[in-house]
Amino acid sequence: MATLPFDTTDLGREVGRLRDELRRHEELYYVRDSPEISDAEYDALLRRLQQLEEQHPELVTPDSPTQRVGGRPAEGFAEYVHHRPMLSLDNSYNLEDLRAFDERCRRLADNRRLEYVAELKIDGLSISLHYQDGVLARGVTRGDGRRGEDVTQNVRTIKSIPLKFREAGAAELEVRGEAYLSRKNFERLNAEQDEAERTRFANPRNAAAGTIRQHDSRIVHARRLDLFAYDVFAAEDRKPFASHWEALEWLAGAGFRVSPRALCPTVEEVIAFCNKMETERDQLAYEIDGVVVKVNSTALQEEFGATNKSPRWAIAYKYPARQATTQVHDIIVQVGRTGALTPVAILEPVQLAGTTVARATLHNEDEIKRLDVRLGDWVLIEKSGEIIPKILQVVHAKRTGAEQVFEMPRQCPVCGGLVSRPEGEVVSRCVAADCPAQLKAQLLHFASRRAMRIEGLGEALAEQLIEKQMARDYADLYSLTPEQIAGLERKAEKSAANLMAQIEASKERGLTALLFGLDIRHVGERTAGILARHFRSLDNLSRATIEELDAIPEIGLTVAQSVRDWFDDAGNLALCERLRAAGIKTELAGGEANETRDEKFANLTFVLTGKLETLTRDEAATLIEVRGGRVSSSVSKKTDYVVAGDDAGSKLDKARALGVQVIDEEQFKEMLD
Ligand code: IVH
Repeated sequence: MATLPFDTTDLGREVGRLRDELRRHEELYYVRDSPEISDAEYDALLRRLQQLEEQHPELVTPDSPTQRVGGRPAEGFAEYVHHRPMLSLDNSYNLEDLRAFDERCRRLADNRRLEYVAELKIDGLSISLHYQDGVLARGVTRGDGRRGEDVTQNVRTIKSIPLKFREAGAAELEVRGEAYLSRKNFERLNAEQDEAERTRFANPRNAAAGTIRQHDSRIVHARRLDLFAYDVFAAEDRKPFASHWEALEWLAGAGFRVSPRALCPTVEEVIAFCNKMETERDQLAYEIDGVVVKVNSTALQEEFGATNKSPRWAIAYKYPARQATTQVHDIIVQVGRTGALTPVAILEPVQLAGTTVARATLHNEDEIKRLDVRLGDWVLIEKSGEIIPKILQVVHAKRTGAEQVFEMPRQCPVCGGLVSRPEGEVVSRCVAADCPAQLKAQLLHFASRRAMRIEGLGEALAEQLIEKQMARDYADLYSLTPEQIAGLERKAEKSAANLMAQIEASKERGLTALLFGLDIRHVGERTAGILARHFRSLDNLSRATIEELDAIPEIGLTVAQSVRDWFDDAGNLALCERLRAAGIKTELAGGEANETRDEKFANLTFVLTGKLETLTRDEAATLIEVRGGRVSSSVSKKTDYVVAGDDAGSKLDKARALGVQVIDEEQFKEMLD
């Protein structure tokens, strides 16, 4: 092996420099989310350090960035008794509880200045970290609060835990925090579990808890846990700072990740923080289950003390749970607009995230097989954000043997028509062209608010129109007479007149609404708008070639093909003819046309990234498009502006690297006017 062209002091200096450099990049990447170098450059630095250390083992120190992953699987974990117990928190589930906590604290503070720190309650597991002279010496799980397990090897792999403080601290310090898995890493882990045909983890918390007790730290390393620090103690269990806020500031300075927080002079500000974070909950990169509220002053904390379970100076404000277990009573099958059969689980109703959940879609036959869900099973369900509830897994422990396996029907449950599931597809469809379930779904879509907006045309009416053969397609709606409608069950004369007026008014909704209502595959509301503005009439669109369609920015080949196919069908063309004959506007309306006349953003390409404060992405995109601009999903040299909101990630970095102009929401809005 070639000797290195350094004497030991030079070598020592280079090793030191490399370590500092690597630590700085680890912090930028894992704690600050703002890397300065690529992964490859980081790896090259790490490899260089590894090389030097291999050649000079005497230079290896435990705080070196190369020492995160231990090679040897641990045999079981040694028990460790905490210096001071790791308590849990009292929970509160409503604002009254929070106000009661505030009153109790104010009584105890007896007119002395009282402030709170509100910080996010991360859903993970608590860890205690011991540092000696600024170097990580031990990591321990909470265990039962008094005794935990020594998981030092595993904790060392967590890159948002500094192996060495960036700033000097006391000789002995204990840092406590919550280890967790980000949503992204959780999803990646579950995808890997699927691939290896292992059981999925129900949520990031379970996954993190299962990971920290892995016996092979290489597995822990690969799963990429993170940690938010939330407290620090000095020797003799003293808190080294006069306030919790200062402790958090110090932790951030020492190189830890500290969760979003607010210093709140009153309980009203605490409540405002809780409410704000609840609305932003789904945009966070990790899951939270509430907010922890702590008395800021260390002196008051010590004075308030603790019960043997939890401190009197802190409380957890918990958000409504998003997971629950319940029983599957039945699995029914719904038939959609395209004839797709969707199995739906009928559940014993449970309260979840503020609503009652009584059903959950099972998507298709394969999903039922994957979950192996049977009638009578107990299941874990989840409802997150706006998303409809879904079944995560079967609770196998509750199986009695009486559960029944579900079979996808071979005949349409509505019309008895043949059900087909072509080779290689996941969706089963009813192939009967006259299936009333499909027709009903089509009528309801055509009449829906964002399409032709025919108010009063709901489920019950659609069913009757189909049953009495008054509507065989949506064009038939325009030849209904008031007498026919009044003759239907529960449709008195007055409401019949209303419905007729609605049908009449729908003729003027415009080309975008019509195109959306036609229910052409892959043509959603936004695409309908783009097509309407480009072709300006149903006639023009019906003659467009695939090449013409594909040439429009934002219209891909799939949409182009689907539009062409739709208009190639003689039945569909006849349908268009009947709509036109009924007097429906099939040309671009004044209001719609106006939108294209604004050419302010003509030839400009925008990229939207991060979370905007007052606009959704779709709204922002529409605002750009109606001004003649283009929205692209990736940053390139051709991008004119990147509109960056909160938590903007790699696109922002790329924009900066390419010198593309970056603007914030405020500047974007100024451009609009
Ligand atoms: S302070 C004695 N702060 O919630 C107070 N805990 O239900 C110790 N947790 O065991 C906890 N985020 O695992 C605190 N910002 C935060 C937290 C947090 C999550 C967990 C922690 C604790 C549990 C209590």
